[in-house]
Amino acid sequence: MAIAAENFAEPESNTALQKIVARGVSVFYGESQALQSIDLDIGANQVTSLIGPSGCGKSTFLRCMNRMNDVIDGCRVDGSITLDGEDIYDSKLDVVQLRARVGMVFQKPNPFPKSIYDNIAYGPRIHGFADSKADLDEVVEISLTRAGLWKEVKDRLDKPGTGLSGGQQQRLCIARAIAVNPEVILMDEPCSALDPIATARIEELIDELRQNFTIVIVTHSMQQAARVSQRTAFFHLGDLVECGDTQQLFTNPREERTQGYITGRFG
Ligand SMILES: Nc1ncnc2c1ncn2[C@@H]1O[C@H](COP(=O)(O)OP(=O)(O)OP(=O)(O)O)[C@@H](O)[C@H]1O
Ligand SMILES: [Mg+2]
Repeated sequence: MAIAAENFAEPESNTALQKIVARGVSVFYGESQALQSIDLDIGANQVTSLIGPSGCGKSTFLRCMNRMNDVIDGCRVDGSITLDGEDIYDSKLDVVQLRARVGMVFQKPNPFPKSIYDNIAYGPRIHGFADSKADLDEVVEISLTRAGLWKEVKDRLDKPGTGLSGGQQQRLCIARAIAVNPEVILMDEPCSALDPIATARIEELIDELRQNFTIVIVTHSMQQAARVSQRTAFFHLGDLVECGDTQQLFTNPREERTQGYITGRFG
């Protein structure tokens, strides 16, 4: 597949500060190994895409970065992952705090069965970020505005979040992630349940959000990876085959396996 040069997100210099550094990360589900000694750096205020065929370990790796694998029975993570130099697998680390710093948006929009307002206010309330109703109102408005949803919902904040369209629900979930002021947002195929128009809105949003957040997105769409990300990592059968500048990876991959995947020889 050829992706025209104008379709690429603007390249960033490789001097970005490394926000997350993974070294020798192996993941096992019981006896079976899903990831083999992954070394990967995630640059601050960049979008990094994780691509590769189904079952190659993209979601598994994404979940390592906020320890969501901890909740899966029989899952074991070896190696080291740091966030701003701090070991996130340190036994003294508070996992609830970690997940506030490293938020997550899932494939299927999953608003809480609560009002639009309470979907956003929930996190700031439990983390004690907003003391008064006025503070909370402000967090709700700012988060919805940043997620590009405020205008559409400001007159129905007390209505259920589940009553929104799929694309609006996904922006609500992004607003909910933003509300606790995370540093990193992990997105696992955030557009796969959306139509092309809702997808385009989320892609624009991702591009805006990287000013303030570090973003890692799993996507099956190579066009989407090209449009939204500055760096791309290609996984295959539990290996990280290569990671590089998105444009370089799609136009001039270093590895034959990457070449095979991006030209559609396997997938
Ligand atoms: N909860 C689990 N229990 C056991 N094995 C799992 C579990 N989750 C994932 N695996 C296995 O780990 C490997 C990697 O799966 P993962 O979901 O990370 O792949 P993926 O690249 O995200 O795939 P997809 O593109 O289909 O979402 C697969 O072999 C999968 O079957
Ligand atoms: Mg997956």
